[in-house]
Formats: sequence, structure tokens, C-alpha cells
Amino acid sequence: MSRPIFIKNAAQLITLDGKMKAPRIKAEMSDLQIIENGSVWLEAGIVQAVGRTSDLLEKYTHRLSQAETLDATGKLVTPGLVDPHTHLVFAGSREKEFNQRLEGATYMDIMNHGGGIYATTEAVKKASHTQLFEESLERMNGFLLQGVTTVEAKSGYGLDWNTERKQLEVAKLLHEQHPIDVVSTFMGAHAVPLHFKENPEVFVDLIINEMIPAVAQAKLAEFNDVFCEEGVFTPEQAKKILEAGKKFGLKAKIHADEIEPYEGAELAAELGAISADHLLEASITGMKKMAKAGVVGVLLPGTAYFLMKKFADARKMIDLGVPVALSTDCNPGSSPTVSLPFMMNLACMKMGMSPAEAITAVTINAAHAIDRAEEIGSIEVGKKADITIFDVDHFAKLQYFYGVNHTHTVIKKGRVVVKGGALVE
Ligand code: NIG
Ligand code: FE
Repeated sequence: MSRPIFIKNAAQLITLDGKMKAPRIKAEMSDLQIIENGSVWLEAGIVQAVGRTSDLLEKYTHRLSQAETLDATGKLVTPGLVDPHTHLVFAGSREKEFNQRLEGATYMDIMNHGGGIYATTEAVKKASHTQLFEESLERMNGFLLQGVTTVEAKSGYGLDWNTERKQLEVAKLLHEQHPIDVVSTFMGAHAVPLHFKENPEVFVDLIINEMIPAVAQAKLAEFNDVFCEEGVFTPEQAKKILEAGKKFGLKAKIHADEIEPYEGAELAAELGAISADHLLEASITGMKKMAKAGVVGVLLPGTAYFLMKKFADARKMIDLGVPVALSTDCNPGSSPTVSLPFMMNLACMKMGMSPAEAITAVTINAAHAIDRAEEIGSIEVGKKADITIFDVDHFAKLQYFYGVNHTHTVIKKGRVVVKGGALVE
């Protein structure tokens, strides 16, 4: 059993206390529940006490010598960051397409000519478990160094059961072997394989009748996601696939209104999806329906940035009462990054979010988007001891000094895994 950890003297301790049952909306998103000169006592992988340093010093006087003390003077302490939408497990990279896009080709053009998701699918089919594991592990280390302690990871670069399973098995192994917790999503409906292009319904049936039951049986995923997009899966197909998943206990997520307006937000609300993601082209009606149904809007500003598209209207969504979360969308095509802090900067610069809202969006609301809000996303007694210490003395400096990695220390389940900005071996 590792020693208790005592974090003391934090310039700001962002607790985000008090909203485990439902995601934060509207003004709640700016209410970070900050303790100045804050302190936390971690033990047995759990947060045991949170408060002002003077109070905790008193409470734990008799045990201070047993603990590893981390002095956070001049530093910011936050819940470990949560990335609720990644395509973590992939092989290779697509910088050739990056060049093509810079010369004017569109993301969908490239995909329709056999590149894009199809190119990565080929690479993943060819890759061994070990290669996939090692390439993804590098990204996991990158996430950890940026202060992230939990990531969601989607399959979807297999498009046949054997390869989808390989991706999901690698995600499971990463979860077991790496400090970061990985929450898995099945996304067999990421693209229609080229040999099914003439009969997409046959592929939809394959997902529904074979892949979804197999995923559930092997307990390889908790969520089910569909790329509902003009030229990929229609809202009707998405509905069928997500409803089939629900029958097997897979909670619905949806890539909605990413490239074209397609009433994906409306569908997410109708299905009671846990989240609708992207939403660059979401309609106002769709946003209102999401707010009413409590669907978390997972926004991925890296994708708009990298695809040179208009950004999702986070301001409008928050004002309408949609609980908003932020994510990297980490993938080799539309957002090859592991930097959630950079997403926070983009959210402020391009989507009308405030620095405080951005913090909520990568902590407690992100935890809600993956149904983990009772365990992570805030610093509260009884929650997992997942904590990040940044080398800034005010939370807004995270977004203000952008393009810099401010992560100093990361604690995962009560263990220091990053120290002085470097991985602890
Ligand atoms: O979220 N939109 C679909 N899927 C990913 C991109 C995947 C890829 O290009 O490899 C996304 O943007
Ligand atoms: Fe995505």
C-alpha cells in the first residue's frame, strides 16, 4: 500500500464540488468551487479530505510524517483531466492527407477516394496487437504528460469484427497496464466498408446482428457510437444501430452534425444518448432538444481547427442549457493531438467559452459524458485520487499561456505518475 499523499498550499484548488448527479449547465459551468491556499489528503487511492491548508494541517498533524507531502505553493490543483472522445487505438499517420487538404482537398473527398478512415483501417488491419499497443501507448504517455488521467477510446478502424475486436482488446490492455483509465466505445459504424458501398444496409445488419452482440458478450465496450453524416450513416441507420446497442446495454453516443447539418443533435435527444459529439453544424432546435434531454455536448475544437471549418457554437449551447464538455478527438485524420489544454485555449478563442467554463468542460462535464461522474471529474471526499498540479497560480493562465505544457505533477489513483513534468518510471 503506497503512502498517503498530502498536497498543501495550492494557490487555487479547483474542487468542482457538489454536482455529481447531473452535469453542470449555464452559470454552474463557471462555478469552479475554488479553495485558495487549498489542501488535499489522498490515501488508499481515494480523496480523504479537502479544505484549507490550515484546516488539513490540524486534522492530520499526527500523521504528517507518514505522508508524501507535495508543496503546491504558487500552483493550480485540479481534478485529473478527462478526455471523453478519442480514437486512441490506431496505427500510422496521415500527413500526406494533411498536405492534400492544405492544397484544397476536403476531408470527405479524401475519404471518398479510399483515404481517410479507410486508410487508417488498412493500417490497423495490418498491425499486430503489439504494434497497435505500442503506438497507442506513446499517445497515452502524451495524454498523461498533459494532465489527463482518464480517456474514452473508440474502435472503428476495423469495420470487420476481428479488427474491431483487436482494437478493443488493445484498449483493454492499455487500461490494465497504463496509469490512465481507458473507457471503451464500440464504433463499428465509423464508415461503410468500400465493398459494402452498394449495400450499406447489409453492413448495418452485420453491425446489429453480429458485432454488437459479440461486443456485449465479450464485455469489450460500454458505449456504442455512430458517424451519422451525409455520405456515411444516415440518421435512420444511426438510430437502428444505437437502439440495437441499447438492447445489449451499450449506451449511445453519436458523431453528430460534424461536417454537414444532419439533425444529429435532434436524434441524440430523441434516443436519450449520453452525449452528442462534434456539433459544428448543429441546429438551434437540436441544441434546445439536447438541453431538454440532458445530452452532453462534447465539443472538439481541434477538429474544426485542423479541418479549417467553422467552430461549434459553444456559447449558444451553454446559454441554451446544454451541458458542454471538451475533448481532443485524438485521431490521425481530423485531430492528431493529445493536448486537452490546447482544446481549452481554442474553446476560449473560437467558441465563446470562458476559461472557467473550459475547466468544467474537461473535468466534471467530461466525466458525465462517459458516465463516470460519481468517481472522477471533481476533488471530493470518496472520489478517486486523480489529480493534476499545474505550474500556474490561476486557472485562467492555463488557457492564456497557450501552447505550453503547464503540467507539473499528475497523481493517478493516489500514485504520483508524473513529477516535474516527466513520467515517473
Ligand atoms: O471524429 N468523424 C469521424 N471520425 C473521426 C475522424 C477519423 C479519421 O479521420 O480517422 C472524427 O473526426
Ligand atoms: Fe471522433
